[in-house]
Amino acid sequence: MSKLAKLFVNVAAVIILAVCIQADTFANCTYEDIRGTWVFEMGPSQKDASKDLECTSTKQISVKVTLDYPDIAIDEFGNKGFWTIIYNQGFEVVVGGVKYFGFSVFKSQRVSVCDQVNPGWAHDVHGHDRRCFQGKKQSPAIKFMAKAFPGSTLRFQKAINSEEMVASINKAQKSWTATKYPQFEGLSHEDFVKMAGGKNSKVMSRPKSAPVTEKQENVRGSLPTSFDWRKVEGQNFVSPVRNQQQCGSCYAFASMAMAESRVQIMTNNTQKHVFSPQDIVECSPYSQVMNYVSLSLGCGGGGGLPYLIGGKYAEDFGLVDEKCNLYKGFDGKCSTDKSCSRYYMTDYKYVGGYYGGCNEVAMMEAIYNRGPVAVGFEVYDDFMSYKSGVYHHAFLSHPFEPFELTNHAVLVVGWGEVNSDRYWIVKNSWGSTWGIDGYFWIRRGTDECGIESMAVEATPILRFD
Ligand SMILES: *[C@@H]1O[C@H](CO)[C@@H](O)[C@H](O)[C@H]1NC(C)=O
Ligand SMILES: *[C@@H]1O[C@H](CO)[C@@H](O)[C@H](O)[C@H]1NC(C)=O
Repeated sequence: MSKLAKLFVNVAAVIILAVCIQADTFANCTYEDIRGTWVFEMGPSQKDASKDLECTSTKQISVKVTLDYPDIAIDEFGNKGFWTIIYNQGFEVVVGGVKYFGFSVFKSQRVSVCDQVNPGWAHDVHGHDRRCFQGKKQSPAIKFMAKAFPGSTLRFQKAINSEEMVASINKAQKSWTATKYPQFEGLSHEDFVKMAGGKNSKVMSRPKSAPVTEKQENVRGSLPTSFDWRKVEGQNFVSPVRNQQQCGSCYAFASMAMAESRVQIMTNNTQKHVFSPQDIVECSPYSQVMNYVSLSLGCGGGGGLPYLIGGKYAEDFGLVDEKCNLYKGFDGKCSTDKSCSRYYMTDYKYVGGYYGGCNEVAMMEAIYNRGPVAVGFEVYDDFMSYKSGVYHHAFLSHPFEPFELTNHAVLVVGWGEVNSDRYWIVKNSWGSTWGIDGYFWIRRGTDECGIESMAVEATPILRFD
């Protein structure tokens, strides 16, 4: 890691500590809470390491920025840029060549202070001129959350992977087939939650997918009816399926899988990497900040996070090869080999431009032209038993209690159609003995389980060593 990156980690760690101490849950801030006029305050440009660690002063410069519909950011000088909320956790704004990123403030389990962001960092779009940054909205947006916070509804779930449940799914519909998996035998409810995104990934609010415009319908007409990055002109551009085990690290696997495949595509398969999700689990400040219980998010999950991992972490810190930090399936202290080369991504964004701008055609266009995209989708109890066919949630009722809705991150590598049933081809991270050789098909065009609402993509920066 470069010296700069290391400093960055240190600064981030201090900020995270501050965030974690003051809070015992995470924010639930929506688009409308954030939209409006903000005052962004920044401290001096940080060059000196000791000052870096403090990040106390944000009182040197202040810039007024208006965040407006749908993704327009305008600063006080009239410069036009863009912005997005990140899940319900905060926002990122790029205007005047400067990138501002902040996590929304949360005061207690029930109070989100959506008109403020925690002290975070701003830097120019090239990663230089880093400044401590804090934002305050001019109109108040304090939110009191529902009493039934999802974190408190943990319930033991016995039915998953039972013969009874499998039979019931297979009886209820014809589109897909369920099976009982020997490898799931004996797993606890908590294990399933971790596999499906982790308890921190629970969906508190999500945008609907954006309507497909007329222009996009024309784009659809120019794309093939089926497409699969594993079979393009006889070549496979997707790295092998992996197994996250009982750790809520799907966000890391989906992000690494996107980077791996896109490097293969950009180099016509002359560079094949397997990047290290353990580096993310142990070392990323952007995933750690999500976890208010301990300092390492690691296995706690964060299915809504590919934007911060496959995107922001990969741009600011870079990814390392698997051999630099082998996958363990549990958290720990950052143990990445510091002598390893780092591989960077850039131009990361929500497909469609911003959170809420995504839809089926925008995803098809991104996949076809640039490569697989990372998505989050809601996992119901029936999904664990998927074996083949086009998945859609089977809406089983009694005796199966609803599984807690988590948000599982995976990689969409293509699409197809069977008997006019449109589907996505999706790479999971539950090993190659699950589903169709580790993959699943899921209904396309109807935002099934939210899969068309928050796709993320990023572009690799090639390295030639
Ligand atoms: C989060 O905010 C959304 C939109 O305001 C709301 O529908 C949802 O109930 C909130 N979640 C919680 C846990 O309060
Ligand atoms: C990509 O690689 C394939 C297989 O090695 C080769 O046939 C093809 O010509 C290459 N494409 C380009 C653009 O070099």
